Amino acid sequence: MTTILEKALPFAPYGAMSDEQAQERILAARAQLGEEAVILCHHYQRADVYRHADLTGDSLKLARLAAQTSSRYIVFCGVHFMAEVADILSQPEQVAILPDLAAGCSMADMADLAKVTRAWRELGEVLDGDPAEVYTPVTYINSAADLKAFCGRHGGIVCTSTNAPHIMEWALARRPKLLFFPDQHLGRWTGHQRGIPLEDMLVWDPDLPYGGLSPEQIRRATILLWKGHCSVHQMFTKAQIERWRARHPQGYVISHPECAFEVCLASDYVGSTEFIQSTVRAAPAGTEWLVGTEFNLVSRLAEEMAPQGKTVQFMGGVVCMCSTMQRIDPQHLAWTLDNLVQGRVVNRIAVPGEVAQWAKVALERMLSAT
Ligand code: 13P
Ligand code: SF4
Repeated sequence: MTTILEKALPFAPYGAMSDEQAQERILAARAQLGEEAVILCHHYQRADVYRHADLTGDSLKLARLAAQTSSRYIVFCGVHFMAEVADILSQPEQVAILPDLAAGCSMADMADLAKVTRAWRELGEVLDGDPAEVYTPVTYINSAADLKAFCGRHGGIVCTSTNAPHIMEWALARRPKLLFFPDQHLGRWTGHQRGIPLEDMLVWDPDLPYGGLSPEQIRRATILLWKGHCSVHQMFTKAQIERWRARHPQGYVISHPECAFEVCLASDYVGSTEFIQSTVRAAPAGTEWLVGTEFNLVSRLAEEMAPQGKTVQFMGGVVCMCSTMQRIDPQHLAWTLDNLVQGRVVNRIAVPGEVAQWAKVALERMLSAT
């Protein structure tokens, strides 16, 4: 296999292709590659990419699928941290590829190793001891590999929106407190479900010394919630739910746990993208749904449910998509696959050795805990 990037097919001609041309190239390349390449798609992918998926899922399902596939090339249509997880959990001879390297996650970028290491040190100062005797670091899977490695090294673990309650249970059975990053909303909602009072879950602002908290506040809190959020899910509001309920009194509201606490509280169901899809699919014909998650998922679900007489509506007042997920378009997918046909790998995601090794420890703790 040749991986000399200078010799790879340049992207420019693909960028100039129409969607139809790109679709044709994808189909032709897939026919040549056969089972050598597998395409994994997150549920937020745009329809013209999602239609090419071999496997779809939420973050947890995709992590498991990436660990199980035997294809040499894992083409990940999602965001950067997901392709990193695929690389970490797959075999060394397998290659994880992200068709556009600009497909990141703005929430994942809200925590970095320097800030988490500083928070850990500050916790040690306040405790006057090793923070690992008291705190379990828990990172949402929406985080860079070096933060997963941090958790691996310090007895911590990874969670996803599907398994966060189990992981919180796992963590609190081992140590009395959690440092949860980077999504404060997932942490707060999960803690609330477990019966932890809101006043025992305090926000840790990584841009302030000691998270902006007093030693007394730090000692009292059960969960320190990193001040991070998803820019897509923060658009949804309780007022949108109330307005919809006034017009659809028999309707159901279902939201992703990245939504603000009051949105989750005002919803009938809260869960991962996979949970949202399966719940609406299993609902009786004629039911009405308001869905608080990314637009591509909601519009695909609405189309799929319409023949069964189910109404599915998007919660947001304006159409808000995950702009980074959108970066994976048919042109980038066609370019990636055509290069593979020619034996060239572009946009490989390869997590370096020691980081991968410790991140895998934290990921495997998660996979065996759930
Ligand atoms: P899921 O694991 O529920 O698919 O969530 C991933 C994500 O990034 C939602 O914004
Ligand atoms: Fe990240 Fe939010 Fe996009 Fe999910 S929807 S990938 S959390 S920016």
